[in-house]
Amino acid sequence: MSDTENRESTGLWVKPKRKWLLGIPLGGVIAFALGAIMLGMTNYVLHETSTTEFCYVCHSHENFIKPEYEASSHFSNLSGVRAGCSDCHLPHDNWFELVWTKMVVSLDIIPELAGKLDTAEKYAAHRAEMAESVWRQFKENDSKFCRSCHSIDAMDLEGQERRTARQHSRAAEQGETCIDCHHGIVHEEPENAAEIIERLQAEFAPRESGL
Ligand code: HEC
Ligand code: HEC
Ligand code: HEC
Ligand code: HEC
Repeated sequence: MSDTENRESTGLWVKPKRKWLLGIPLGGVIAFALGAIMLGMTNYVLHETSTTEFCYVCHSHENFIKPEYEASSHFSNLSGVRAGCSDCHLPHDNWFELVWTKMVVSLDIIPELAGKLDTAEKYAAHRAEMAESVWRQFKENDSKFCRSCHSIDAMDLEGQERRTARQHSRAAEQGETCIDCHHGIVHEEPENAAEIIERLQAEFAPRESGL
């Protein structure tokens, strides 16, 4: 017995006493617990910063955004289903994309503090640029935020007006995306909205047809 002990302690690696070996699974458990707490905290922060109230901290200016949103069919409708800001503006199908988007979006604190949007005039002056950036995002992701609630598959096309049903079947066939036809459904549009949409459609058309 003492023989083996001697032999083992001569190497560089001294075999630790058994009870210390327990440290390995114990460390694992602690690391896991800490990880779970941090993940829980991250998810808590992600959740709290996805509420409409949170967006209102900066975007609640009484004479724009809020009244426009609250008058829209996505705030109040016959079915009683409400789309919050983050339903249309944040990714929900990919945790990493959500975290990344939040990190990028948190930089908006800088223009906010600089008062970039603090009056109706300033907001109006930037609306076109911001709307274009949102439309571009929807062109790129095929309006996926709309599709988390709506799908052409799930539409009762027979029940829709003929013209509407025709547009939707065409959209499904030709890969037109929701915001090609539906824009300004929640917010007032910039004056040159039609022009911007047309320009984006021209820009994206070759990509959509796979050329
Ligand atoms: C800290 C203040 C602040 C908070 C909170 C905030 N925003 Fe913003 N947001 C801004 C500012 C400032 C801009 C303008 C940024 C710019 O154009 O430089 C902006 C721009 C936007 C835009 C236009 C984006 C673009 O690409 O131009 C959208 C959409 C938006 N915010 C949605 C939201 C949503 C949804 C929430 C809640 C989840 C939210 N914001 C929370 C300050 C904020
Ligand atoms: C959180 C779920 C949700 C999301 C996200 C959502 N919608 Fe809706 N949408 C609804 C509901 C609910 C109604 C109202 C249905 C009714 O009439 O009872 C509606 C109604 C509509 C209507 C018909 C009423 C109108 O205002 O013209 C259109 C068009 C529409 N949505 C397009 C869109 C588009 C485009 C997007 C993406 C920018 C989108 N929706 C995102 C749930 C959603
Ligand atoms: C080619 C144009 C076009 C495309 C693309 C399109 N729609 Fe429509 N949609 C219309 C028209 C036109 C109407 C009827 C007028 C209106 O409500 O705006 C309509 C109506 C609707 C309505 C109300 C249904 C009703 O019967 O009142 C909803 C909801 C809707 N669209 C959602 C969507 C969604 C979600 C997408 C993307 C998956 C989409 N649409 C893509 C043209 C289009
Ligand atoms: C039903 C989907 C939907 C909801 C709900 C929604 N948005 Fe938007 N938002 C859009 C679309 C689509 C655009 C692109 C411009 C347009 O079509 O009006 C946009 C544009 C914007 C812009 C760019 C400036 C502008 O006025 O166009 C900001 C900022 C913004 N949204 C913030 C918000 C905030 C904050 C909320 C919640 C109070 C919200 N949005 C709710 C779909 C939505």
